[in-house]
Amino acid sequence: MNENDIQENQKFGHVPVLPREVEDLLVVKTGPVKVIDGTVGYGGHSSLIMKKNVEAVLLGIDRDGEALAAAEKILSFAGNRVHLAKDSFSNLAACAAGLGWHSVDAILLDLGVSSPQIDDPRRGFSYRLDGPLDMRMDVQSRETASRILNTYPYEDLERIFREYGEIRKSRTLADEIIRRRKQKEWMYTAELAELCDSIPGIVRRHGPPAPSLCFQALRIEVNRELEELKKALEEGVKLLAPGGRMAVISFHSLEDRIVKQYFSMMARYCLCPPGLPVCICGHRQSLKLITRKPVVASEEERRTNRRAAPAKLRVAEKL
Ligand SMILES: C[S@@+](CC[C@H](N)C(=O)[O-])C[C@H]1O[C@@H](n2cnc3c(N)ncnc32)[C@H](O)[C@@H]1O
Repeated sequence: MNENDIQENQKFGHVPVLPREVEDLLVVKTGPVKVIDGTVGYGGHSSLIMKKNVEAVLLGIDRDGEALAAAEKILSFAGNRVHLAKDSFSNLAACAAGLGWHSVDAILLDLGVSSPQIDDPRRGFSYRLDGPLDMRMDVQSRETASRILNTYPYEDLERIFREYGEIRKSRTLADEIIRRRKQKEWMYTAELAELCDSIPGIVRRHGPPAPSLCFQALRIEVNRELEELKKALEEGVKLLAPGGRMAVISFHSLEDRIVKQYFSMMARYCLCPPGLPVCICGHRQSLKLITRKPVVASEEERRTNRRAAPAKLRVAEKL
């Protein structure tokens, strides 16, 4: 990624993470290969891919209409080599079929939200900026963070905070949310951030701040992020042509665990319990791991791009 590329991306407020690593590990074939960027966002990674392989054709998918409009401008240099779809990456096979693609050579998922989404208070992703408790990546979808806080039963709220936020005092937090909603509807991010900060010992002392974990949990639920990821991994691996690669960048341990476990399972030739004399599982190995350990950002990248610090990249190749 050169200076011009960085400046171009900064204009739109999003700098792609692990740019060189994605180029080196994902864009390995030359010629008119088919690439899916399932999280095209502000077109950062896609631009790099289309510049590295000037014959590649791209299907860029995103749930967010605003991001897609920006991607269309940023990727205009590649003309008719680029196709964009407003959809979920869990539908990547159907999106590809719409172009007549029945196999592809590379798939990228750069999970989570982009800087412009976080920095826009109207979207409600940031606990640092006051705005509506929205958190939808697709503003046309039905579920919002405020609807969850105002309608979910105690058990579901508690589970979401415990499982998706790994919040220690998930029961206290769920109790407080329900107690307060009897007096007043949950509407604003600042109110929720304030509640999180007011519960002593709600999270581990040296971990991320309580509002950050609570917002992460709600965002995962609003956008069904873990279900989306599991389906995209299954569909993606099936859609890859032999020798094709899938790269996933995750930003928290729940996502990374799903990617690691799925790639490892598909890279094993047998799933039978140890000790069986013959294989009865019927499983077939379909992947080779390109990264045994996740690739993380260099010191230099961490210094210049704060979002890169928690990023983990895993890459696998179809056999
Ligand atoms: C971290 S940003 C991607 C940035 C992009 N790689 C770039 O360099 O500009 C993640 C993007 O994925 C989108 N997204 C997240 N989950 C999605 C899903 N399930 N389906 C489609 N898009 C999704 C978000 O709307 C956001 O634009």
